[in-house]
Amino acid sequence: MTTQTERSLVLIKPDGFTRGLSGEVLRRIEAKGYTLVALSIFTPDRERLAKHYAEHEGKPFYEPLMELMSGGQVTAAVIEGQRCIEGFRALAGATDPTVALPGTIRGDLGRDWGAKVQANIVHGSDSPESAKREIGIWFPELG
Ligand code: RTP
Ligand code: MG
Repeated sequence: MTTQTERSLVLIKPDGFTRGLSGEVLRRIEAKGYTLVALSIFTPDRERLAKHYAEHEGKPFYEPLMELMSGGQVTAAVIEGQRCIEGFRALAGATDPTVALPGTIRGDLGRDWGAKVQANIVHGSDSPESAKREIGIWFPELG
């Protein structure tokens, strides 16, 4: 029996977009075997980001994160494939790019820039519930 296919929300954050890494991240997603379902490029407003990052409100890095994320364009993508939520998190690597393992997106392409928030190139949903919620925020037409 095969496991049911699932979808995840991936963001190439402004730090990754500005460095021209959207193509490299999407290449890795496709090379892994996941499918691109939707793609969009735009500068997110604070209202959308507040919904997306509601779980982090009040944390010390919340404001710097909101500034980073609203400070430029993002590439937003919905990807699809069995266990792609877990699989993309593995591709992305640890949150802190300094210790993210080589071979991962953050480990290969990210570093610490001394900012108040970790600029770590990508976001990926962390559970089926988060994926459903986040896809609704970034791609309401897919809801
Ligand atoms: P993401 O949601 O972006 O996929 O990353 P994550 O699950 O690995 O990390 P999370 O804990 O959800 O945090 C969201 C984003 O906030 C920034 N962050 N900076 N101590 C720090 O400087 C810090 N902690 C979190 C990162 O950009 C992280 O991806
Ligand atoms: Mg997270």
